[in-house]
Amino acid sequence: MNPDLDKLQPYPFERLARLKADVEPPLGLDPIALSIGEPRHPTPSFIGEALLTHLHGLASYPATRGGDALRESIAGWLAHRYTLPQDLLDPQANVLPVNGTREALFAFAQSAIDRTLDPLVMMPNPFYQIYEGAALLAGAKPVYLNCNADKGFLPDFGALSDSHWDRCQLLYICSPGNPTGAVLSEHALGRLIDLAERHDFVIASDECYSEIYPDEDAPPAGLLGAAVKSGNDEFRRCVAFNSLSKRSNAPGLRSGFVAGDPELLKRFLRYRTYHGCAMPPPIQAASAAAWSDESHVRRNRDQYREKFDNAIAILSPVIDITAPHGGFYLWPRTPVEDVTFARELYRRANVTVVPGSFLSRDTAAGNPGRHHVRMALVAPTDECIEAARRIRAIVESLAESDITGPGV
Ligand SMILES: Cc1ncc(COP(=O)(O)O)c(C=O)c1O
Repeated sequence: MNPDLDKLQPYPFERLARLKADVEPPLGLDPIALSIGEPRHPTPSFIGEALLTHLHGLASYPATRGGDALRESIAGWLAHRYTLPQDLLDPQANVLPVNGTREALFAFAQSAIDRTLDPLVMMPNPFYQIYEGAALLAGAKPVYLNCNADKGFLPDFGALSDSHWDRCQLLYICSPGNPTGAVLSEHALGRLIDLAERHDFVIASDECYSEIYPDEDAPPAGLLGAAVKSGNDEFRRCVAFNSLSKRSNAPGLRSGFVAGDPELLKRFLRYRTYHGCAMPPPIQAASAAAWSDESHVRRNRDQYREKFDNAIAILSPVIDITAPHGGFYLWPRTPVEDVTFARELYRRANVTVVPGSFLSRDTAAGNPGRHHVRMALVAPTDECIEAARRIRAIVESLAESDITGPGV
């Protein structure tokens, strides 16, 4: 067996299941899960209808690079969303469909890393766990860039020396961030593109929360837009990943894309051809329809805005919490250890959240997930409000309660 498999960490949900295993939540309270980042607003019906009308596509093998219609709709969406110059993106060369960003973020490292050169892969800390597994199985060493409150929960890129950046082959960034909700500005992205140029590494920008943001007039910047702004209109060393899972409430569709540097995508397509991960034709048709519509995405944002406004109004008087700049997570500072806090919320309020330290790693400068929990506001508004009220009650009573160590 591949010995690198033994380097993979237990997934946060395995650790969460262990944390909850010997705890009895109160019987009279319905469970509320704020733990899983799975959108729960309904998938727009036109997406399912497009899927059904194209079921005849099941009769043929799809091309790994996807059909023209899908690649053109993705290129059109990107050009409009990031105000890219007309026709700059070539749907044939700059875009590849993928079966959700999870598989693509993982697979990309397998094609981008040269394991003979003692490679480093940089990533935020806390982080979406796939980045680390991808680095380890590609034969690279993960390097964690702490995201702390004093830097607005953005990765501390300045913490590494030039010799680290020289060994860096791939930098994962996630903006808006899971779990912190922090957003990298176009200026910050431009500086990273300069850094990548100087030290010759690739930036893989996970933008799958890009369409969930509070201010309609200030959508989060993206890597491809920043590349053009900084004069890199060939997108050298830049690839952006996005998905319909969060944008269109369609996580079961398994549909996303990677776009950017044509040379990198050519190599990645070669990898994918052997890996065998073409997107089924009816999914391609449903995806093209989804990327071509914005009204459902705006309605989606309205619903998140209502939930965040309510939850923050309830929680902010008792806990250190700020509204995210994007995405659907809250990342409050906990009044006691995060693992203890999560266990108490489950034990006393039947609310499940993820301890921050399950999403981050220990570093010489500490573990930036400690004293935080991740709350996904994916449930209907009423349920999110009820969860926030229960959490507030627990925080208010914590001082008097008898909290013991977590034991996990
Ligand atoms: C930061 C981040 N990236 C990528 C993904 C993967 O999403 P999908 O594979 O559904 O596109 C997720 C899912 O939760 C995520 O939180």
